Amino acid sequence: MVRKNNLLIIKEMKHFLVTSMLFATLLVPAHAQNATTNRIILAADNPGPVISKDIYGHFSEHLGACIYGGLWVGKDSPIPNKDGVRLDVLNALKEIQIPNLRWPGGCFADTYHWRDGIGPQSQRASIVNVNWGGVTEDNSFGTHEFMALTEELGCDAYISGNVGSGTVREMSEWVEYLTSSNESPVTNLRKQNGRTEPWKVKYFAIGNETWGCGGNMSAEYYADQLKQYSTFLHNYGGNSLYKVACGPGGDDFKWTETLMKNQETRNMYQGISVHYYSVVDGWDVKGSATDFTEREWFETFRLNYDMDRILKLNESVMNLYDPKNTKGIIVDEWGNWFRVEPGTNPGFLYQQNTLRDALTAAIHLNIFNNHAERVKMANLAQIANVLQSIVLTKGDKMVLTPTYYVFRMFRVHQNARMIPMDIKCENYTYGDKSIPAVSASASINDNGVIHISLANLNPSHEINLSCILEGFNPGQMTGEVLTAAEMNAYNSFENQSAVKPASFSAFRMKDKTLEVSLPSKSVVVIEIKQKTK
Ligand code: AHR
Repeated sequence: MVRKNNLLIIKEMKHFLVTSMLFATLLVPAHAQNATTNRIILAADNPGPVISKDIYGHFSEHLGACIYGGLWVGKDSPIPNKDGVRLDVLNALKEIQIPNLRWPGGCFADTYHWRDGIGPQSQRASIVNVNWGGVTEDNSFGTHEFMALTEELGCDAYISGNVGSGTVREMSEWVEYLTSSNESPVTNLRKQNGRTEPWKVKYFAIGNETWGCGGNMSAEYYADQLKQYSTFLHNYGGNSLYKVACGPGGDDFKWTETLMKNQETRNMYQGISVHYYSVVDGWDVKGSATDFTEREWFETFRLNYDMDRILKLNESVMNLYDPKNTKGIIVDEWGNWFRVEPGTNPGFLYQQNTLRDALTAAIHLNIFNNHAERVKMANLAQIANVLQSIVLTKGDKMVLTPTYYVFRMFRVHQNARMIPMDIKCENYTYGDKSIPAVSASASINDNGVIHISLANLNPSHEINLSCILEGFNPGQMTGEVLTAAEMNAYNSFENQSAVKPASFSAFRMKDKTLEVSLPSKSVVVIEIKQKTK
């Protein structure tokens, strides 16, 4: 799948006979006896790059009930909270080791003026959220509240600066306010507002979707803006900004090339963003999040897989101008975008989250793991109550979505080394279209423990798969599975456990080959410890 070298091909031939014979007799059910042999060869003795923990990042925008109600309820709320952040959500986020959080947008970022969101909350300016529902934004969640949240979570801050309607001075001073310990009017203002020490800010984006809601700019015009803005974003004290240039929507590689081709432009940033949403049947239709057919189930995954093509395309442009791989890809918006739930504000983008979304998350995270060489961060859109969320809230209730559980299962890949794999698997075919039925990635951590994450996209039958572990002495193994009887199963406020991970044991090790029986429509993670003498 990722890399196939001569060594792997030879090993593959060596194992092929063994594997296919094993399957014929052991695990393959009658209906699948004639199917393609599904097998993965894992170069466990030759691991690749570190999978940045930041691939497991999140995104919070002032949009619908993402911030207000989803994360923030205010200190005086009857909903249990820590300094205004709801405790149930806080604890859920800590459990999945959220590595970074993007804020304040999205499109909102290019209408956001940070000075509106500092100082006593009662005196903050109210504005209209023109992008999302035209509602009043009272700015009660601002810089101090966001930074306190990241500190509480122990995650990195990823701030999106306003290029579309802001100024160079405004953005420059925001960075100074956040990160400088020098004596200046801006840092004095921060101190007046109760924060003496500067914060650490790791990631800072110079604009969002500047080809669209962030200013409708041409790539050339934005490249000039980028240089100007970036020049005035300073590194203060020990804080070193990882600057993110606004990259393409999907496969617009010409945009990427414009940002990559000149050394002067390349010097202005460390990473380029990529946005890609899966929108079933296009923006005019968008499918329903819960009421869908098998065609839409299939189509969702077909669109999800396109992330791989989009990354490859952008990587090929980047490889041309940056063969030493000094610039990262930051996929800071991804996920399924469905119609809003009936009766909800169309500007709030509130959608339910089913088993289908869990498989979507697995496909994307597997793709990002496999692209660890270039992909340095990714942010699911969005963290709460918006698009493909990991939590949904209603008043004092919170529910964890199937997508949340995939992040919990996959957290083991954070900062582990990606294991290159060669995968051969049967297709999942619907009508005249086919996609690989199995999505996979694997990693090995500092303790020598392997994790293999797998998804069987076929909604009707299990898949028997053998994973050949090269150069690894397998010991103790455990597994976890996420599945449900129905494709559109989801967790509601009334039934919070319709889709929940369970312990998984439909696998065994035969010599150094792991034989797994993947249930239909499931996500599985298997942990394999090294045998100690
Ligand atoms: O995530 C919702 C919106 O999608 C974001 O605000 C914008 O950047 C993108 O178009």
